[in-house]
Amino acid sequence: MLSAVERKIEQFIADLNDKEVASLYASLPQGKRLRAKLILKIAGHSLAVVKTAAIVEMIHAASLLHDDVIDDAYTRRSRPSLNALYGNKTAIMLGDILYSKGFLELNNISPDVAKIVSNAVVQLSLGELKDVSLSKTFNTDKAIYLEMIYQKTASLMEACAGAAALLAGKDKNAYMTYGRNLGIAFQMIDDLLDITMDAETLGKPALHDFVEGKTTLPYIYLYEALNGDDKKRLKSLHAKVLSEDEKTWIKSMMHNTGVIQKSYNEAKVLIEEAIALMDARGESVLSSIAMAMIERDF
Ligand code: FPP
Ligand code: MG
Repeated sequence: MLSAVERKIEQFIADLNDKEVASLYASLPQGKRLRAKLILKIAGHSLAVVKTAAIVEMIHAASLLHDDVIDDAYTRRSRPSLNALYGNKTAIMLGDILYSKGFLELNNISPDVAKIVSNAVVQLSLGELKDVSLSKTFNTDKAIYLEMIYQKTASLMEACAGAAALLAGKDKNAYMTYGRNLGIAFQMIDDLLDITMDAETLGKPALHDFVEGKTTLPYIYLYEALNGDDKKRLKSLHAKVLSEDEKTWIKSMMHNTGVIQKSYNEAKVLIEEAIALMDARGESVLSSIAMAMIERDF
């Protein structure tokens, strides 16, 4: 039924009656459509549900277009990013168009759904700003990191699950907790893969987060685990272009101190909680989605 969501997005784009926008949108890789999947699995396939899924995917696509400009990222999903192909101005404006059309359509769903989704976009934007500000210094505060990834990534998944529960007349709070845990774990795994995967598998340069100044959970734990001299060395490498030797040093220190496993376990606890909530409601597909998240290696 994801194809119904694709068709709805295409219809929303066609409404704009602009050939350039249609061709730019068509050039974007579609991604996993995880948020749409969540909504459909929770709420079925009514028109309002399909529209909500399409809106959320447009907002998500917009946020990635902006994020790649903000992060100076020239690849997205193993392909040149839109900013790399057509420049920042085009990427920002296509993002604005997708996101404002999404908001326009949100008015046709219900005030409660509109509120939950638009609140998440406020959180998303606050989270992205926090991510940018935090990367100016070596952040060692885990609570701040967790708040930032909740806002940047989990808030939209939480809202997807909550909006879908509202549309389906299900228990909103339980589904929102499921979406929040899934989102936080998703970002934790994303941050881990930046360290453990090679550039080819990732579809973007490896250790890019640290080069950009982002001290994700494994870096926070590594800093705690290292002795004085190594702490200094790690800090001195923050937000710099790294040589192969420096990359190897960081990766081997991460493995030696067990911080990769420690971070992974933390994501796993959140996923287990999400699975328990869904198992209790007979939502086996939602449990499997959560399981797949923790098992993904790309
Ligand atoms: C990816 O993070 C970025 C996000 C999940 C959120 C981005 C949000 C904004 C740019 C706010 C603006 C929102 C709208 C709707 C226009 P990442 O850089 O850690 O992940 P990546 O590896 O996928 O780039
Ligand atoms: Mg990014």
